[in-house]
Amino acid sequence: MRQRWLELMLVICVVAMATILIKRPRVESPPPATPFPRLTPGWSASPGSPFEGQEDYWKAEGQRGFQNVLRLKIPESTPVSVERGRKLAEASCTPCHGPLLAGNGHFGKTLDPPPGDLTRPEAYKYGHRERAVYRSTFYGIEGTGMAPYENPFTIQQTWDLVHYVRSLQKPEHL
Ligand code: HEC
Repeated sequence: MRQRWLELMLVICVVAMATILIKRPRVESPPPATPFPRLTPGWSASPGSPFEGQEDYWKAEGQRGFQNVLRLKIPESTPVSVERGRKLAEASCTPCHGPLLAGNGHFGKTLDPPPGDLTRPEAYKYGHRERAVYRSTFYGIEGTGMAPYENPFTIQQTWDLVHYVRSLQKPEHL
């Protein structure tokens, strides 16, 4: 009798422990190692910093590959690179993003959230400059139809796409 009672207590203890462990709030991931200064009107990064000319990159904070992309050197845009990017985009991006990546692709309309207009700098949620476009393309946007392209594309091809996307963007009014 006493043994059954002990068994019962043991079962209750195990169930209680399991409940506590499952309900315990998940530990937050630590903040990124490179502190990112928040965008304030007129803020510009110091020369030589990975944020120089890329001040909108903070919008991608918390997204996959954020730190890795900070380490990359941005290659200069050339007409040849833009042209290579155009061909890649026409084959891979237009079904969702539309012929000139203006957000009117046939397949894109079925997605939630739908792909935005990549020709409007102010419409970008995750930043529209080189680093940000590179990160969105190479690492994707979690929980959306924007899959990572790190597998089909090399780093060079991704920069070609970035230069093409940048060439389509209308002048910034930011
Ligand atoms: C299967 C559909 C699909 C394809 C193909 C696709 N995208 Fe996307 N893309 C999306 C969706 C959906 C979003 C919007 C995600 C959001 O709003 O959070 C997006 C967002 C983006 C963004 C970020 C825009 C922002 O708001 O900051 C960039 C940059 C981008 N795509 C580039 C590309 C490039 C370059 C290609 C081709 C290599 C491509 N995408 C192919 C669906 C797609």
